[in-house]
Amino acid sequence: MKLIIVENYEEASVEASKVMLEVVKNNPAANLGLATGSTPIRMYELMIEDHKENGTSYKDIKSFNLDEYFGLEASHPQSYHYFMNKHLFSGIDIKLENVHVPNGAGEIQESCDDYNKLLAENPIDIQLLGIGSNGHIGFNEPGTSFDSVTHMIELKESTRQDNARLFFDGKIDDVPTHAITMGISNIMQAKKVLLVACGENKAEPIKVLVEGQKTTDVPASALQDHSDVVVIVDKAAASLLT
Ligand code: F6R
Repeated sequence: MKLIIVENYEEASVEASKVMLEVVKNNPAANLGLATGSTPIRMYELMIEDHKENGTSYKDIKSFNLDEYFGLEASHPQSYHYFMNKHLFSGIDIKLENVHVPNGAGEIQESCDDYNKLLAENPIDIQLLGIGSNGHIGFNEPGTSFDSVTHMIELKESTRQDNARLFFDGKIDDVPTHAITMGISNIMQAKKVLLVACGENKAEPIKVLVEGQKTTDVPASALQDHSDVVVIVDKAAASLLT
């Protein structure tokens, strides 16, 4: 595991965009695993700036998002698909038919099976991850098996609370109770993993990821077994590291 500790969110975003852009520049037909949440927003802005200024093209890139709320159509303003259009896809030249987000509005088992098939056919070159304050990656909440593939999950109260802030004007009752997420096994199959964490509320799961024992209580700790992981943290998220 390569650990990069930087001063703040801006520096973490700059470092993360460098790692992502290196993959895109080396392989203009790469398969990118992407994440939503507040962490990647600045990094996505930097990717858009780079696309406009340096012409980095995404016309042959395919993207695969980690997760989607259950019950929301792609066009719903609080869906993760909508978030991705707004924060990244609308600013780069990726083809919309090459964009993939789990289908939150379909029949559950069919949506999960379709996504697993898609991931099997399109190995991910780099998977971007944030981390939940409870250690989740994707929406794989504590207790999720490391062997899991794309599945439906019931969100923990703490996750719904964390996400209400960004997506639902702070109203937890509006946050869906379930989501479809890539499983930990899908994430582990990515050739490279880039995890970015900023803020004090990420310090505990980062400590377990970097220095602790592998445990399903902290799903991110599964990454200890991955051979190519880059972890970028700001000082606050690194504050419990020895
Ligand atoms: C998002 C996702 C989540 C977030 C995590 C951190 O697609 O899968 O695991 O990465 O909840 O969210 P932020 O970045 O908002 O702190």
